[in-house]
Amino acid sequence: MSRIIAIASGKGGVGRTTLTFNLGVALSLFNRHVVMLDLDLAMANLDIVTGLLNPDVTLHDVLVRNRSIDECVYEIEDGVRVVPTGIHFETFKNLNPKYISWNKIMKEVAEFGEIFLLDMPAGIDVDIFEGIPTASEMIIVTNSTMSSVADALKNKIVANELKINIIGIVLNMYREDNFLLSFKEIESILELPIIGVIPYDQEIERSMALGKSIVEINSSSPSSNAIMKLAADIIGEEYQPIEPDKKSIINRLRKFVGISPDL
Ligand SMILES: Nc1ncnc2c1ncn2[C@@H]1O[C@H](COP(=O)(O)OP(=O)(O)OP(=O)(O)O)[C@@H](O)[C@H]1O
Ligand SMILES: [Mg+2]
Repeated sequence: MSRIIAIASGKGGVGRTTLTFNLGVALSLFNRHVVMLDLDLAMANLDIVTGLLNPDVTLHDVLVRNRSIDECVYEIEDGVRVVPTGIHFETFKNLNPKYISWNKIMKEVAEFGEIFLLDMPAGIDVDIFEGIPTASEMIIVTNSTMSSVADALKNKIVANELKINIIGIVLNMYREDNFLLSFKEIESILELPIIGVIPYDQEIERSMALGKSIVEINSSSPSSNAIMKLAADIIGEEYQPIEPDKKSIINRLRKFVGISPDL
């Protein structure tokens, strides 16, 4: 049975698009066919993040120019497809989220995958939330700041009202800091489980600039392991974290200081 998972947050910039992309690639490594859809109709950037850049046909064309959805499903890797949204403001002005039938779009795109990740806009625009299929599940992304957790709470309230099943919270850009909220505090404010903790990792920024996923660029990094574990948990699979290859790191160091590698 296919699943639709909305990646949402109240506050902007917490890492929804980054998570959508990396989680999508991670799920594909468990042999799942994934389709990511950019529902951030005003501030779309899933195309850039996934390395698509300037796709010919986008969701905007489907919504206002009668193009068909199968014209804008792009396979970026084996089992990973992206449905991008355009960035033209003029087109966006002609869109009214109230009248978009996501149910219809999801039906048309159904043949392309089994797990559908929706990169949602920030906030609690009820028109968008009401429009997504009722069977959708939701992951709420937050950072450990008071403001992003407070906004996540608003997401939860809207999702509950619309009877959307929230799988849990993903705490992104995590770093230890006494001035930030702890796991326990976040779970008790939101009354939801934290299902993933992705550390702050500059390499994620770099991999995004290259249109690559961290799970491919550095599979033994803590952030990649966290995303793979999250993917595994979502689909009920096992995942053994990949340890950094210490021997090759030490050998590189030995080479650097002029000692022959320890084979
Ligand atoms: N775990 C992380 N560690 C370091 N940087 C991260 C991490 N997650 C995301 N980022 C960076 O944070 C920035 C914001 O991420 P992203 O665009 O995914 O957020 P968003 O919630 O989709 O934002 P918007 O509200 O603008 O749609 C990006 O530059 C991204 O590379
Ligand atoms: Mg985004």
